[in-house]
Amino acid sequence: MVVQLGRIDTVFAARDADVARQYNEDGYVLLKGGILPDALRRLQDLYTEFRDTEQNRLSAWAIKNKKQQYLLAFDGDDEFLNVAKDLIAEVTGLPREKLTVSERHIKAYTETADPNPLPHKDRFASQINIGIPLHIKKDSVLTLYPDLGLATNFANRAIVYDPSDAPVPEPVLVQADPGDVLLFRGADVFHERRNAAGSVILYIKMNAMRLDPLGEDPSSVRNRRFTQDMVAAQGSAPTTAARAERSPRILAIRRSFESGFRHEGLSIDIHGEAEGQAIDTEDLEMLQRLEEPTDVEQLVGQGEGNGAEQGERRARLLKLCSIGAIDLVPSEDASAT
Ligand SMILES: [Fe+2]
Repeated sequence: MVVQLGRIDTVFAARDADVARQYNEDGYVLLKGGILPDALRRLQDLYTEFRDTEQNRLSAWAIKNKKQQYLLAFDGDDEFLNVAKDLIAEVTGLPREKLTVSERHIKAYTETADPNPLPHKDRFASQINIGIPLHIKKDSVLTLYPDLGLATNFANRAIVYDPSDAPVPEPVLVQADPGDVLLFRGADVFHERRNAAGSVILYIKMNAMRLDPLGEDPSSVRNRRFTQDMVAAQGSAPTTAARAERSPRILAIRRSFESGFRHEGLSIDIHGEAEGQAIDTEDLEMLQRLEEPTDVEQLVGQGEGNGAEQGERRARLLKLCSIGAIDLVPSEDASAT
């Protein structure tokens, strides 16, 4: 199905100046009537198609007795996600060029979903969650717990509140219906959904830290492909035409000790690549130095060094590109996205 969702003002309704203040003060804001009817209807139709055809169903993400999830992927999804980034940049003031989609799932709660689960915080990459309800059953309500503290969850997985520390306090109840748009800080604020059975919500999660642990930002796929083409053409293609960026899909770098501490190793986990690829300390240093996207020639020529050392750095860069740890981004792109 082709869903054309166009510019920001053809998807999201006009917002007043108070929206940004509310979000920044409270950590969430509900935009009543925040999505225009035509855009909502197209997203609802998309869900119906996914449900009926099982297209885009994320089987690994199905949580037994809780929910089914579908990847929001369609012709034109890139454009729609860009519009969602425009909204987030406007409301939160975060830098538009760094905004990265970390998740884009339609969540359909099963009839057996727990009516009152313990609250959780999302993984670190869920800096901002956009909730767009597609179908909401009577009595279903989002619960937010700003009183449980707003410390960020730095882990790359959700954490569930442990009631043995202190009982769960009364939540803020947020009644978001189809037509509304809810924004909240997913990794900072404990949240859940009460009486979720039968409800369907589109969640787009993003961050301004260039983190894409599930490989769901369209730029991750695009940049990986560009990088593989550049690596394959090495020798003939001019690498000056690219900037190097630490891959947003890097999940973890691990240090291990074996054989009674006689052997020490470093390995890297990257979403979509083989698990535990070996790297060395110089690779790690190059990755650590690459805080911001940098021109390839600048990265290779960094610091003192003769031609041989630069050649070594170029070889190291190519290795890190080929294993997926560094992406090359065409220089003409104003932003990585
Ligand atoms: Fe969540």
